[in-house]
Amino acid sequence: MSEILVSENITGDAMTRLRENHDVAFKPDLWHDADRLAKQMQTARAIIVRNQTKVTDELIAAAPNLQIIGRAGAGLDNIDTNAASEAGIVVSYTPSENSISVAELVLSFMLTAVRRIPDAWRDTRSGGWNRMQFVGGELFGKTLGIVGLGRIGRLVAERARAFGMTIIAHDEFIDPASPFVLQLGARLTSLDDLLAQSDFVSVHVPLTPETRGCFSHDAFQKMKSSSWFLNASRGEVVDEAALLLALNDNQIAGAALDVRSQEPPVDTELATLSNVIVTPHIGAFTHEAQERVVAAICSDVATVLAGGAASHAFNFPKPKR
Ligand code: MLT
Repeated sequence: MSEILVSENITGDAMTRLRENHDVAFKPDLWHDADRLAKQMQTARAIIVRNQTKVTDELIAAAPNLQIIGRAGAGLDNIDTNAASEAGIVVSYTPSENSISVAELVLSFMLTAVRRIPDAWRDTRSGGWNRMQFVGGELFGKTLGIVGLGRIGRLVAERARAFGMTIIAHDEFIDPASPFVLQLGARLTSLDDLLAQSDFVSVHVPLTPETRGCFSHDAFQKMKSSSWFLNASRGEVVDEAALLLALNDNQIAGAALDVRSQEPPVDTELATLSNVIVTPHIGAFTHEAQERVVAAICSDVATVLAGGAASHAFNFPKPKR
């Protein structure tokens, strides 16, 4: 059994180099199989994952030699970081390496929605030339409500400002008078006000017990019937049954979803609606972002296994092993 376990499909130049210089078990489908994963963890000194491997306290307990968990991405909701810290295991992640790509996807969602690109593309490709059928709207002058003004939310705000949008935001962890909020040209407000005012509501919160399911029937009821709901954060922050109802009842105009409450999704009805744009959690999936992400994680894994300190550490545990 190998010293480094890669349990999801993580590739790139840095991974190739890591595999050339270390004993790496590259098993992109291992995340599916909890028992096989636990067995492989018995000898692993490092594991590299994306968001699908559940690195639970049980899995950590089954890995007596583990020194580092490399998370090739920003969200840590699939890692028990407390259990890792208690066991003296470094959690390394990439909080900003893919932010630009996610922000660009959100901008493309808004443009795709207002210009009705999927419908126009389908119609034109099948021989149509129906210009009057595809009269769209502009982003200019519209209000974008950003829920969560962290790294990605800020990048979305900067880019949306360049389109002439008005930016409002809700973030309980940010002081409304903070200079960066003023610099962004954003106005912080309550969630209720944001939902009521926005033409687009874009979600950029991590998945936590507080955010799980927070976009519920109640939230969709507060949105304008002309507004779009955009989610490139985590699917579990949305009550999908409530979203489906809101769309079917014309409570909101549409939704663009890069993430789902279960991935791959079991409920396929949302994706069949003509006013829903769906993509398979590709926010971070650009060549540029993946090169940065994989380089950072592979470098941290090699460094920690050689006795050095991780540059992208989330925690600073006392080594116990
Ligand atoms: C992230 O958390 O960085 C993105 O959602 C991509 C991923 O989960 O791998």
